[in-house]
Amino acid sequence: MDQPQLLRVCSLRELSSRRGTRVWLDDDTEVALFRIDGVVYAVSNICPHQHAPTIADGFIEDCTVACPLHGWTYDLRTGQPIIGGARLKTYNVVVDGDDVFVEQPPPEKPRWMLW
Ligand code: FES
Repeated sequence: MDQPQLLRVCSLRELSSRRGTRVWLDDDTEVALFRIDGVVYAVSNICPHQHAPTIADGFIEDCTVACPLHGWTYDLRTGQPIIGGARLKTYNVVVDGDDVFVEQPPPEKPRWMLW
């Protein structure tokens, strides 16, 4: 079974307080990082509403981010929607000194392989 991998995505100094930063785990996986009150959160940059790459540009309030397109709002700790109808994917983050790592989950199997 594939194990998740920790990937270094940036330095802590690159993360602005209370503004999103976009990074890529691979060619297909775009992640939005947020540094709020000293804690780094990683969520998908792709808003589940219309699959737009907008979350890093979202509006932050407390520990939530609102998509700038139509306002779907998510809890950055859990990805649960506050406003909207779908959950935002979250990623585990490890900060080691000035290095920020995001856990890349194993590749998802196509549905036909799960049967
Ligand atoms: S695309 Fe994000 S709320 Fe519509």
